[in-house]
Amino acid sequence: MNAKLAGTSDAAIEFRGVSYHINDIPGRAIVSKVSLTVSRGETLVLLGRSGSGKTTLLKLVNRMLVPSEGQVLVEGCPTTECDPIRLRRGIGYVIQEAGLFPHFTISENIALVPTLEKWDPARIASRVAELLELVGLNPAEYSARHPRELSGGQRQRVGVARALAADPPILLMDEPFGALDPVTRAELQREFSALARRLNKTIVFVTHDIREALLLGRRIALLHSGRLVALASPSDFLRLDHPEVHAFTASVVIPSGVSQ
Ligand SMILES: Nc1ncnc2c1ncn2[C@@H]1O[C@H](COP(=O)(O)OP(=O)(O)OP(=O)(O)O)[C@@H](O)[C@H]1O
Ligand SMILES: [Mg+2]
Repeated sequence: MNAKLAGTSDAAIEFRGVSYHINDIPGRAIVSKVSLTVSRGETLVLLGRSGSGKTTLLKLVNRMLVPSEGQVLVEGCPTTECDPIRLRRGIGYVIQEAGLFPHFTISENIALVPTLEKWDPARIASRVAELLELVGLNPAEYSARHPRELSGGQRQRVGVARALAADPPILLMDEPFGALDPVTRAELQREFSALARRLNKTIVFVTHDIREALLLGRRIALLHSGRLVALASPSDFLRLDHPEVHAFTASVVIPSGVSQ
């Protein structure tokens, strides 16, 4: 991290007029003119329908993609000017499909960044066990398994554990609870919410579930067709008069005929 720049603002991540075009063809914008600041220690939820550009926006933060226009700054440094390896070591990333290495065991997957950072083996082992407990997987049972021997939801939980392993200041989480049953999902959401407050990390959390957005976000950024159409705290968000906000709030109405 650039200490000089880090001290000058409380912005951990800043999008400045960011557009992203496929193959740099302006007519094919996936993300259009997004300006947005994520403060240090904030949990910002990116909410949007499938295909609205949420994953693309996350990939612009850790330089898996670079903007076609505008800039993304992480701790004050434009991503195009940072060393991508250093940048990514400071950012935990939970990808949508968990993205575990199939030939690594669960503990090797979680230990990835600590191993690259040459932590002491005993410290790595205790960190892996601590994280497996945290995401509700018994270390004795799961450490030595391979990803194919887990359910989809269990793999997602390992993905969350891996992103937290080296304690990065920034976390990008792309629908991390998407493959979980509603009960486990609610449990993990509650734990995650407490954890986020305790750890004081900067988190960008992607979801298409408005309930999850309301529960976890300090602010909610709503994307629609690659554009940022709303940005508000959960309580203000519900009062916004925008058709896409209405579309989301209408989606949580309990079907008529179901007794409450
Ligand atoms: N490499 C690519 N080439 C062409 N189109 C792409 C590419 N990557 C993404 N897209 C398109 O850009 C749009 C946004 O994709 P993105 O993955 O960011 O959406 P998303 O909001 O994460 O959706 P979901 O909720 O389904 O994960 C989609 O219409 C997608 O088809
Ligand atoms: Mg996505």
